[in-house]
Amino acid sequence: MIHTTTVLVIVASMRARRIGAQVAQWVAGIGRTSLAEKRLEILDLKDWPLPMDDEPGIPAGNIYEQAHTKAFGEKIASAQGFVFVTPQYNWGYPAPLKNALDHLYKEWSGKPALIVSYGSRGGGKCAAQLQQVLQGLHMKPVGRVGLKISRDRIEANAGEIDAAAVFAPHESALRQGFARLDGRLSGRRWW
Ligand SMILES: Cc1cc2nc3c(=O)[nH]c(=O)nc-3n(C[C@H](O)[C@H](O)[C@H](O)COP(=O)(O)O)c2cc1C
Repeated sequence: MIHTTTVLVIVASMRARRIGAQVAQWVAGIGRTSLAEKRLEILDLKDWPLPMDDEPGIPAGNIYEQAHTKAFGEKIASAQGFVFVTPQYNWGYPAPLKNALDHLYKEWSGKPALIVSYGSRGGGKCAAQLQQVLQGLHMKPVGRVGLKISRDRIEANAGEIDAAAVFAPHESALRQGFARLDGRLSGRRWW
C-alpha cells in the first residue's frame, strides 16, 4: 500500500536515562492500529541534534543557514501531522522540544498535532504550555492525552517502562485522540 500521509511521533525527552522512547513506541503502536492508511514514524529528537537557537535568522523568514536545520526542516516538511510525546519537567515541557520547534516555522505551520504528555498527574501543565506554543506556530492541536505514572516509578527512575501495562487505563483516550487526528488529516473536522 502506498501511504500519502505521514504522521511523525516525536520523542521529546533526551534524558540519558529516560522512558520517553518506550512511551513513544507504545503510542505509535496504538496509532498504527488507529490511523487508517497513514504512515506513522517515530522521530527521536536524540537523533536530530540541534544546537540551542543557533540559526542567525528568524525561522519564520524561512532562510536557514545550518545544514542540520535544513535537514530537520526537510524531515518535518515531509509529514502532514504530528504526535508530540512529552514528559513534564517542572510543569513545562523539555527545552530540546522548544528548541526543535523554534528552529523551523513553515514546516510546522497549518498542520494538526496530538499532544501526549506523561507525569505523576498526566503532565497536563506541560501539555497546556505546548498547546499554546503550537498555536503560536499556527499549528492545529486536536487534543491532549495525559498518561499518569506513579511517584514510586518516577523516583525509581529505572529508564524503562512496560508502557502497555502501565498506561492501559489511558488506551481508550489515546485512541480517541488518534481518531481526532485522523479526522483532521482526512478533512473531517471534529470541532
Ligand atoms: C527535570 C525534571 C523535572 C520533573 N518535573 C516533573 C513535574 O513537574 N511533574 C511530574 O509529574 N513529573 C516530573 N518529573 C518526573 C518525570 O515525569 C519522570 O522523570 C519521567 O520519567 C520523565 O520522562 P523521561 O524519562 O522520558 O525523561 C520531572 C523529571 C525531571 C528529570
